[in-house]
Amino acid sequence: MSDIRHLIDISTLTVEEIDALIKTALDIIENPAKYSEKCRGKKLATLFYEPSTRTRLSFESAMLELGGSVIGFSEAQSSSASKGESVADTAKVISCFADIIAMRHPLEGAPMVAALNASIPVINAGDGGHNHPTQTLTDLLTIYREKGRLGHMTVGCCGDLKFGRTVHSLIAAMSRYEGVDFVLISPEELRVPENVRNDILKANNIPYRETESLLEAMPDLDILYMTRVQRERFISEADYVRLKDTYIMTPDKLMDAKETLSILHPLPRVNEISVAVDKDPRACYFRQVLNGKYIRMALILMLLGVK
Ligand code: CP
Repeated sequence: MSDIRHLIDISTLTVEEIDALIKTALDIIENPAKYSEKCRGKKLATLFYEPSTRTRLSFESAMLELGGSVIGFSEAQSSSASKGESVADTAKVISCFADIIAMRHPLEGAPMVAALNASIPVINAGDGGHNHPTQTLTDLLTIYREKGRLGHMTVGCCGDLKFGRTVHSLIAAMSRYEGVDFVLISPEELRVPENVRNDILKANNIPYRETESLLEAMPDLDILYMTRVQRERFISEADYVRLKDTYIMTPDKLMDAKETLSILHPLPRVNEISVAVDKDPRACYFRQVLNGKYIRMALILMLLGVK
């Protein structure tokens, strides 16, 4: 059996491993020079079959800041996928050129197929509406840096909880820390999928409630995780248009929020957070972006076995 380590789903990392990644990321932040040659001679391949700004460029920045190099493609059309090459074959081919792969794909499970066929580590950089484990690591580092802890808090997830893969991964990860409860804020049509409700929340007796009212939930929240309504996953454009502006965070809606609230968003945002909120010190989403680079540096080191 291969001992190559991949990251496809956040639940394959133990809490101890997540804590170690956070510790490494914090050390990178404090001592960047110590890490600047750690991946000299190593190559990261970014295989992005779906658009991205943060994830792809933060992976590439992460590898460059570790002294390594980057190859890859940013759209399926510019790769041989456009000629019909399978993900499995692509993974075998890229294994000849690179040391580690970060893959984003619109089909759920595609990075898993790549992992089964690659001879190098594969990182899921987002697969359909399924999972986005490195966004979750980013979110966890952000929560840790903002709050100084990962347990004992009320986490509100708001928006498109059905298609929002970052929410599914975040709930899976935060459920493993003590004293965490969730308020799931969404329109009826965009509630979390049954598997998240049953296999994670109910199966582990995690306290949660579901509501359509952000204002009603606000006073209880320590974390507010806002999400965009995922237009690209809707079958009906009319449904998207009807639901897209259900929640628009403006400064007045924070009136009853805790002074210690932290507002996260995986970005990109569309309308769901007004730019007027950006000035509020509780808005963490741009600090969150930077954390993404540091935690991806830590992850690359871990998967490549670099001490
Ligand atoms: N948060 C996130 O995944 O952003 P991108 O789609 O820009 O990578």
